[in-house]
Amino acid sequence: MSDQSKTTDLSFDAFDEERTPPPAETDFNRIVDRAMSRRGFLGSTIAFGTTAFVLGSTALTPARASAAASRLGFEAVPANALDTITVPDGYSWHVVAKWGQPLWSHSQEFDQTTRGTGESQELAFGDNNDGMALFHDGGRNILTVNNEYTNRDIIYGDRETKLPENADDVRKGKAAHGISVVEIAQTDGKWGIVKDSTFNRRITADTPMEITGPARGHDLLKTAADPTGTTSLGTWNNCGNGRTPWGTYLTCEENFNGYFSSSDENYQPSDALNRYGVGLKDWGYAWAMADERFDISKHPNEPNRAGYIVEIDPMDPTSTPKKRTALGRFKHENAEVVLAADGRVVVYMGDDERGEFLYKFISNGKYTKDGDNADLLEDGSLHVAKFSDDGKGEWVELTPSSTGMSSQAEICVHTRMAASAVGATTMDRPEWVAANPRLIEAYCALTNNKNRGVKPNAGGDDTSANGPNPRDKNLYGQIVRWRPDGADHGANTFSWDLFVLAGNPTVHNDAHAGSSNVNADNMFNSPDGLGFDTAGLLWIQTDGNYKNEGDFAGHGNNQMLVGDPESGEIKRFMVGPVGCEVTGFAWSVDRKTVFVGIQHPGEKNTGSHWPDGGNSVPRSAVIAIQRDDNRFIG
Ligand code: FEO
Ligand code: CA
Ligand code: CA
Ligand code: CA
Repeated sequence: MSDQSKTTDLSFDAFDEERTPPPAETDFNRIVDRAMSRRGFLGSTIAFGTTAFVLGSTALTPARASAAASRLGFEAVPANALDTITVPDGYSWHVVAKWGQPLWSHSQEFDQTTRGTGESQELAFGDNNDGMALFHDGGRNILTVNNEYTNRDIIYGDRETKLPENADDVRKGKAAHGISVVEIAQTDGKWGIVKDSTFNRRITADTPMEITGPARGHDLLKTAADPTGTTSLGTWNNCGNGRTPWGTYLTCEENFNGYFSSSDENYQPSDALNRYGVGLKDWGYAWAMADERFDISKHPNEPNRAGYIVEIDPMDPTSTPKKRTALGRFKHENAEVVLAADGRVVVYMGDDERGEFLYKFISNGKYTKDGDNADLLEDGSLHVAKFSDDGKGEWVELTPSSTGMSSQAEICVHTRMAASAVGATTMDRPEWVAANPRLIEAYCALTNNKNRGVKPNAGGDDTSANGPNPRDKNLYGQIVRWRPDGADHGANTFSWDLFVLAGNPTVHNDAHAGSSNVNADNMFNSPDGLGFDTAGLLWIQTDGNYKNEGDFAGHGNNQMLVGDPESGEIKRFMVGPVGCEVTGFAWSVDRKTVFVGIQHPGEKNTGSHWPDGGNSVPRSAVIAIQRDDNRFIG
C-alpha cells in the first residue's frame, strides 16, 4: 500500500504534515533567535529584547530602550511622501551643491531646458552624488563627492527618446560621472561652493588613472590603448567611499558593467565577464557610441580595468588617481578603513549584488603617523567572510592555494570567482560598512535580496537562507555587525549578530515584520548608507521602495535614521524628497553641520521638482543640516 492511499482522506496540508512533520522550532526561528538575542555580545549591555525573537509578536513591541534612557535627543520625524526634506523640530537644512552647478566663473549656469552640454557638465558639479568626505587644509574645507551615475530620463529629458543621441550627449554623460572635488565655505552660517578655488576639480570617466598592486601589468589588464596594463582612463559608477588616516579619499567603482556593450551581436562574453554582468547591451548609457573602448567585442579586457577602489589625493588637484587592485575587483560599495592592533590598515568592503560577498583587505605595511603611508593600499592580503549560524565567523584569505587560481593578480581581477572557490557566505547585497569609533566592531547594511532562497548568485553559489541572511525573498534588508576576536580588526575570526531586521509590522506578522527594535513609528526598508558619528551613534540611510503601499505601506520616502548600538533603539531623523535615495555623509570639523546626499529625486518619473520647486528639473544635491540652537550634531 502506498503512502498516498493511506492518507487520501486528509487535506493536502495535513498530508504534507504527516509525511514531513514540521519541526517544533523552524530553522528561521533558531537562527534569528541566536542572531538577535544572544547575551553578552555587547558586554554589560543587551542589544535586544531578552526574549527569543518570536514571529509575529515581539515585532510589534516598541524598541526596548526607554525614552528616559535614550541617547537619541531629537523628536522622531514621521514617515511622509512629501517633495521636500523633513528634519526634526529645531533643525534646518539648506542646499550646498547640486547637479550642474558651476565650479568656476567661466562655467555656464545650469540650463533647465537642455540640462547642459558636454562642456558645461565638465565644468560643473556631477550628477547623482553618493559617498563623500570633507577634508581640511588650515581653515579651508574641501568636499570630495562621488557622482555615481545618471538617470537618462532626467539628464536627457529634453530629448524625445530620453536617450543620448550623439557624441556630445555621451560626453555630457561621462562628465556627469566620477568625482567632484569642491571647496565649500560658510556665508551667514550657510555652506556653499567656493567658485574658482584652486582645489576645485572634476574627475570623470576620462581622467587618466594609474593601475597599481598585484594586477598591474597583468595580461588581463592590457588593451590596445594601454599594452602595458598599467594606466587606464576614468572611473565611473562611484558609489560609496572611504577615507584614509593619511588624508586620501577612496572612491568605489560599483556597477561598472552597465556601460559596456558589443557592436557584434554574436560576440560571446567569457564566463568571467558574465560573472560580472558584462554583456552585449549596456544599461542605456550608450558610451560605446562615442568611445570604442566600451565595445567589448573590440576591447574585451577593458571591463577588467574597472570595478576597483581608487585612491585620490583631494588636496593635490594635479595628482593621478590610483586604482588599487590589491583590494579586489567587484561591485564595490564603500571602503571602511580601520587599523589593526599592530597598525596594519584594514579595509572592509561589500560587493553589492544579490548573493555576493563581504571582504576585508589587510595591508602588509603599517600605518605610522607622519610616516610615508602613500602606498599602503598597494599590497596586502584579501579575505572574504564566512559566517556560521552559531554567531561565529572567519575571514578566509584568498590566495592561489586557497582558491586554485593561478596568481594573486588573477585573484585581484576575478575576485568573485576566488571567493566562490573558498565557499564564502552569500549575502543579501552588502552595501556600506561602518566601524564604531568607540568599540572594536563593524556594521554592514544588507539592503535586500528578492532572490534569497529563490535562485543562486551569478556564480551559481547556493543562496539558501543562512545566519546573517535569514529570510527568503528578503524585501526589507538587515544590518549585521561583527566583533573581531581579541578586539583586533586584524583577527581572522569574529562573533556576529544582527543589529536590526527591517520590516513592516503593520502589514506582516511573521519574520517580515522585522526585529523587536522596529515598530510602526520607525519602520523602513533597504538600509544602504551607514556611518558613525563621534558619539558612537549609527546613522542609517535608505535606498528602498518608496511606493508607500502594500508591503511598504507607511514607509514613505527614503530616509535617514539614527541607531544606538548599545540599546538597539532606532529613530527616524530625516525624510528625503519624492523618488530620492538618501546616501552619503560628512560632518563639519566643529560637528555643527552634517552633510547628507540626496540622490536621484524624481527618478522613474516620480514627479519631483526638488530642490528648486515650481516646474524645475529635479537635481541631486548635497544638503547641510544644522541645529537652530547651533549645538553639535553627532
Ligand atoms: Fe550604489 Fe550599492 O549602491
Ligand atoms: Ca548604495
Ligand atoms: Ca537608488
Ligand atoms: Ca542601494
